Amino acid sequence: MQRQAVLRRALGLGMTFLLFLMAGCLGDPSLTPASPKPKPTTVVEEFVGNTACTECHPDIAKSHAQSYHALTLNTLTAHELGTRVPPKGDIPNTEFVLSEQAKGFQVAIPSQTEATAALDLAVGSGKTGVTYVAFLEDGQMAEFRMSYFPLKKRWYVTPGQEKLAAGSLGKVHPISNAQKCMLCHAVTVPEAGGKPEKRFFGVGCESCHGAGGAHVRAARTGDEKSGRMEALGKLPASQLNVRCGKCHGTREDVAVAHLPKDVSNRMQTYGLMESKCFQKSSDKLSCLTCHSPHENAKTQPVFYERACLKCHSPQTPLQKPCPVNPKEKCIGCHMPARKALAGSEIPMTMADHKIHIPEKD
Ligand code: HEC
Ligand code: HEC
Ligand code: HEC
Ligand code: HEC
Ligand code: HEC
Ligand code: HEC
Ligand code: HEC
Repeated sequence: MQRQAVLRRALGLGMTFLLFLMAGCLGDPSLTPASPKPKPTTVVEEFVGNTACTECHPDIAKSHAQSYHALTLNTLTAHELGTRVPPKGDIPNTEFVLSEQAKGFQVAIPSQTEATAALDLAVGSGKTGVTYVAFLEDGQMAEFRMSYFPLKKRWYVTPGQEKLAAGSLGKVHPISNAQKCMLCHAVTVPEAGGKPEKRFFGVGCESCHGAGGAHVRAARTGDEKSGRMEALGKLPASQLNVRCGKCHGTREDVAVAHLPKDVSNRMQTYGLMESKCFQKSSDKLSCLTCHSPHENAKTQPVFYERACLKCHSPQTPLQKPCPVNPKEKCIGCHMPARKALAGSEIPMTMADHKIHIPEKD
């Protein structure tokens, strides 16, 4: 109770609603379409967590466990974060001091005795930035104003919080937005709060495959038919892309939030589906053409060139080959990485998923 009061004062609350500024990971909760509540007649889906899948799908479980998907949500402890743990002490260019107390990490502004907040979870795998959040007793979620980049060993202002007063500890999200935030970084959240159970941390098997309770039970009893998981690999490209777009941003998300067209790097489903390659290839070009769902993205451009050449090869030209360079280096010219976070000084870039002719559109 006391911690709650302290945090509320520290965060300068009183307001029950805070306007979301557009930024952050694509992830700004205001961008997600409202997910309809299940109707009372539907059977409640039973989520079971990744470890329930390991015994029968060990190889997939192993590779998924090492992916940024799986690693995107952690408890903020040195034990869990390992080398990704933020450094204790003064946070440069701010008045904040980060310390580790018996109960966990805490951030304070020493000149203001009341400005103290305990931080619970670390959002982000550490590939780029990690943002720390605290769940308040009323279910609201505070998002710390500074984010840490473990690979750069550097702090930046959390995207979307650039305009907050320098002394503010951060932004507070109402429960509904805390839930949206967590539903892109975890499998499921409790109905009445935003903080997921530990077994549901990260983008898990069931984030993509749907609740697995019935399938596990059926597989155990040998009743294969009743609990069959949907065969995602058989979906037409447009549908698969939109499934991933639940978190990776669809055209609808862009329209609803009135985002500029150049978010085609941050919102990959939108970007890809705006490409002629997708629109004119009879529903064949999907995320799976270039990414394996249980692994991280490949970092060698050559890997992606092979995908382009499946359709644009000079030898078997299903489509026109390139008049500039028909053999290689396609990605740098046709899917260039661009700065991802407008309005932030974070130099993060992401590949434009709208495959296009440079300088044209
Ligand atoms: C609509 C789904 C969605 C929501 C809602 C969402 N995120 Fe994300 N988040 C993503 C995706 C997808 C990525 C991967 C990078 C990308 O595509 O922008 C990501 C990446 C991140 C990262 C890593 C750094 C980066 O920007 O890539 C952090 C940190 C993060 N999100 C924090 C949050 C926080 C905190 C919230 C809630 C306040 C939130 N996200 C809400 C989908 C979401
Ligand atoms: C007791 C063993 C067992 C467990 C536990 C189990 N599965 Fe399966 N799974 C199977 C078997 C057997 C098949 C092949 C038959 C079928 O499709 O149902 C399968 C098939 C699948 C398929 C392929 C569906 C298709 O047709 O492409 C997916 C996806 C899947 N499981 C996901 C999961 C997830 C997610 C979990 C954890 C929530 C899980 N499984 C837990 C045994 C298991
Ligand atoms: C529940 C939300 C969610 C769903 C569904 C989802 N993703 Fe993601 N994805 C994320 C988040 C969050 C990240 C960023 C993880 C991080 O680095 O913190 C991410 C990262 C990625 C990355 C970057 C990995 C890297 O190496 O940097 C790829 C590629 C990706 N997702 C592809 C997909 C594909 C393909 C699908 C559909 C089959 C999909 N995702 C479905 C949330 C989701
Ligand atoms: C980011 C979304 C995503 C996540 C997370 C994910 N899957 Fe999948 N999974 C897919 C997609 C998409 C396919 C279809 C792949 C294809 O056919 O190329 C698939 C295919 C499968 C298959 C059947 C095909 C095969 O390769 O055997 C099984 C079984 C499976 N997944 C189990 C799991 C388990 C278990 C986990 C967690 C440890 C998991 N998946 C996590 C998206 C995901
Ligand atoms: C034609 C190939 C291609 C397709 C199809 C594709 N991607 Fe990518 N994707 C790339 C390339 C190239 C990169 C950059 C990889 C790198 O250099 O690290 C990338 C990277 C990513 C990243 C990491 C952020 C970044 O830009 O570095 C995410 C997230 C992602 N893709 C999601 C998706 C999703 C979701 C889909 C389906 C809607 C998809 N991709 C379809 C080629 C593709
Ligand atoms: C599934 C097949 C397929 C794949 C894979 C594919 N494309 Fe295409 N691409 C097409 C089709 C179809 C068109 C439309 C041709 C037309 O206009 O008739 C096209 C058009 C293009 C155009 C012209 C775009 C414009 O706006 O005029 C470029 C550039 C291009 N592709 C580059 C690439 C690159 C680079 C890759 C790999 C990153 C790639 N494509 C992967 C099928 C594909
Ligand atoms: C140095 C940059 C560069 C590289 C590398 C490059 N392209 Fe291009 N590509 C272009 C430009 C510029 C155009 C537009 C040319 C024009 O309109 O005369 C183009 C046009 C295209 C077109 C449209 C052809 C048409 O007639 O409509 C396709 C398809 C294409 N490229 C595919 C690829 C593929 C696949 C690769 C890799 C094997 C690749 N490009 C490598 C710059 C590049």
